[in-house]
Amino acid sequence: MSQAQNAQTKLEELRQSALAKMQGAASSKDLYEVKVEFLGKNGFLTEIMKEMASLPKEEKPLFGKLVNEVKQALEQSYQQAELKLKAHEIEEKMANEEMDLTLPAVGGGNQGSEHPVAKVTDEIVRIMSRLGYSLRQGPWIEKDFYNFEALNIPANHPARDMQDTFFIDPTHVLRTHTSPIQIHSMESERPPLRILGTGAVFRCDSDISHLPHFHQIEGMCVDRHVSMADLKGTVSFFVREFFGAGLKTRFRPSFFPFTEPSAEIDCTCPICKGKGCSLCKSSGWIEIGGCGLINPKVFGFTGVQYPEWQGFAFGFGIERMAIIKYGVEDIRLFVENNLKFNQQFE
Ligand code: DAH
Repeated sequence: MSQAQNAQTKLEELRQSALAKMQGAASSKDLYEVKVEFLGKNGFLTEIMKEMASLPKEEKPLFGKLVNEVKQALEQSYQQAELKLKAHEIEEKMANEEMDLTLPAVGGGNQGSEHPVAKVTDEIVRIMSRLGYSLRQGPWIEKDFYNFEALNIPANHPARDMQDTFFIDPTHVLRTHTSPIQIHSMESERPPLRILGTGAVFRCDSDISHLPHFHQIEGMCVDRHVSMADLKGTVSFFVREFFGAGLKTRFRPSFFPFTEPSAEIDCTCPICKGKGCSLCKSSGWIEIGGCGLINPKVFGFTGVQYPEWQGFAFGFGIERMAIIKYGVEDIRLFVENNLKFNQQFE
């Protein structure tokens, strides 16, 4: 037998024996061992390749081709056998192993916690729902009409400068407040209405007390014979429930285009209980939001008939409420998602 024939016979024997072993492998682990034995870096196939060196030059290409064919055939068989064995192993595992998914995780681990913004929102909603208010949401991207025009803030009105607006295009903005939810509600529902609008709002502003992306909650009541007294009663009730009994509420005349009259809402500083501290800048009072009686011009942009129907509205910043209630010193902590910070509010 020539040297080349000899090597070919050896190759064929290798192929047969590898295939037989692969087919006989009882597990994917055994199969892998067969693969290493024949196809591995120091496997039989590598060994036989070494014999090529001693073959006559003209025999080398044919032999090299044969080795490659065997290699490919073995790799293919390996893959097929592996698929079959693994499928079988998974089935066996599923049939024989049971898992109790109700068991508590070992060690507890990081449980995560509700974000203070979500927690404060839920609490406000819970308090106001006792007065018959229910939740509404609106789009983050608002038409100019809803964010400004229908709230009596016409183009070129100086009040537009009160809010640093992110424009999407000339007629769409990232809503700068939750007040547009008032308009959506009045357009699509019939009074009497008691609604809360909550969610993210956006302003081009960022420092120790401002975030470009923060949250507000808006309250609106539309009914017959609504007066400033109803507004004051409602907001004072809310302040006591949210910050604690005994806290006073004060209404300072102010201006918002969508309410007339308008007021800024202050309450006794919940941190120092009115004695004066750094949060309330020693005044004992802290500003928590804006409010007022709905401007008849706003009704004019919706289907609601004034003076048959009248209303009041108020708006708070959620992060600000959390800052005041818990004495948080930097608003940016709310977006850092530091678990240690978030878990303090549990
Ligand atoms: N939208 C106002 C703001 O973001 C807050 C506000 C003031 C809401 C008075 C109201 C309101 O509903 O009546 O600054």
